[in-house]
Amino acid sequence: GTGKFFVGGNWKCNGTKDSITKLVADLSDAKLENDVDIVVAPPYIYADQVKQSLTDRIEISAQNCWVGKGGAFTGEISAEQLIDIGCKWVILGHSERRHIIGEDDQFIGKKAAFALSQNLKVIACIGEKLEEREAGKTFDVCFQQMKAFADSISNWMDVVIAYEPVWAIGTGKVATPQQAQEVHAALRDWLKKNVSAEVASFTRIIYGGSVNGSNCSELAKQEDIDGFLVGGASLKGPEFAIIVNSVT
Ligand code: G3H
Repeated sequence: GTGKFFVGGNWKCNGTKDSITKLVADLSDAKLENDVDIVVAPPYIYADQVKQSLTDRIEISAQNCWVGKGGAFTGEISAEQLIDIGCKWVILGHSERRHIIGEDDQFIGKKAAFALSQNLKVIACIGEKLEEREAGKTFDVCFQQMKAFADSISNWMDVVIAYEPVWAIGTGKVATPQQAQEVHAALRDWLKKNVSAEVASFTRIIYGGSVNGSNCSELAKQEDIDGFLVGGASLKGPEFAIIVNSVT
């Protein structure tokens, strides 16, 4: 892998005050390897509770944020507000926001530029749908989504790329280590050709899609897999700890 291993837990729209109190306690008690950046993304309304109660060892991410400065935008949360509560990261371009909510490349790129301008670090998500993979378009789709991010990113130090094939998300159909490695290597090569060799060498490219405590270690061994973005399995403290500790 490249850089420090990075594991993010995306809790999505799950949890209650009670279940999140338990998850935070389990995470705070867990034995976690030192050499890993660990981030969890609670639903907005619990972010402050989690920030206040979770060990500082784990940083907080949002799952989304508004595209610009706060103001008259009903129902939105701004990057400045996230920073205000001690949130360090934001997940942008997640497939559920692209394909269920309808966010497009341009809007996501603008979000990334604004978040970075406020010193919020970005977990930039990309990935192809099943029909795109079957049509042999995996690289085209991923490169196009990468380009939209790259066009709006100047500070790559604050960015982690998450490759999440849509067909693997929440389906139990994890990409094979070879399938994931092939795309990660292609993404690193894309960064080298289109951004710089330096950015390609330090940017973490993490994998997401049905990662669990049993399949993480084979994936973690792949040369270009620098960590994970975990959904379902991040809701269980002990299993999330196993994934964090799969660092090689
Ligand atoms: O952000 C996380 C991904 O969407 C993966 O979700 O681990 O439940 O498949 P999953």
